Amino acid sequence: MLKISNLHAGYGKVEVLHGISLEVPKGRVVTLIGSNGAGKTTTMRAVSGMIAPREGNITLGETDITGKESYHIAKLGLAHSPEGRRVFATMTVNDNLLLGAFPRFTGSRAKGDVNADLERAMEYFPRLKERRTQLAGTLSGGEQQMLAMARAMMMNPDVVLLDEPSMGLAPILVEEVFHIISRLRQEGVTMLLVEQFAAAALNVSDYGYVLENGRIAVHGPADKLKNDPAVKAAYLGGH
Ligand SMILES: Nc1ncnc2c1ncn2[C@@H]1O[C@H](COP(=O)(O)OP(=O)(O)O)[C@@H](O)[C@H]1O
Ligand SMILES: [Mg+2]
Repeated sequence: MLKISNLHAGYGKVEVLHGISLEVPKGRVVTLIGSNGAGKTTTMRAVSGMIAPREGNITLGETDITGKESYHIAKLGLAHSPEGRRVFATMTVNDNLLLGAFPRFTGSRAKGDVNADLERAMEYFPRLKERRTQLAGTLSGGEQQMLAMARAMMMNPDVVLLDEPSMGLAPILVEEVFHIISRLRQEGVTMLLVEQFAAAALNVSDYGYVLENGRIAVHGPADKLKNDPAVKAAYLGGH
């Protein structure tokens, strides 16, 4: 569904990704593991068109999306819940979610039943339901993070990129986020996930890639990576 081949990307003169390749098959959850600064966020930015790839290519379904504008990539069915909760602070929770469905109102995505999906999002994220008329800027950091994730789902995307959805969340909410991810996985949502909690991420994923200094060092089925001694020692807290 999403395929990245030999992707090079970076900022200014600095190249961060030195030719990475990965695949997210339809209906699968794939996790990208790596230390701070490895290039995980950069990978997601290059996929969603926030930065332009320098080399290589990216396809979504049958469509080459390499170097396309991010609004265009979104219309083609890719939703990106970015790192660091980028919600519209002066709009309500409800309006932020409706905005997530924007491509469905303009006809660039199948409309479906937006209201039913809105109610479903509220059911997935009860904390948002209680606060649906509240301005997003007044939510806690964790709640804003959840709103960013729910907003990405409102597009009814073919593929969703989740960049550290549990960042800044209290432990109980972290658990809730992983629970939501596994529910979405059961529903067949195609996802590329980046998480600081690598072990928990592997538990809700089918496959994983380890990114080290802008290169894929190891990849394999999630179960296998969980038991790989080098991966365990470096990323899973040695357990
Ligand atoms: N906007 C930016 N401008 C310049 N360098 C950046 C920018 N964002 C990230 N970087 C650099 O790119 C590298 C990879 O960062 P990033 O993709 O955010 O890593 P990760 O998400 O794996 O922690 C880091 O060295 C970081 O300092
Ligand atoms: Mg990051």
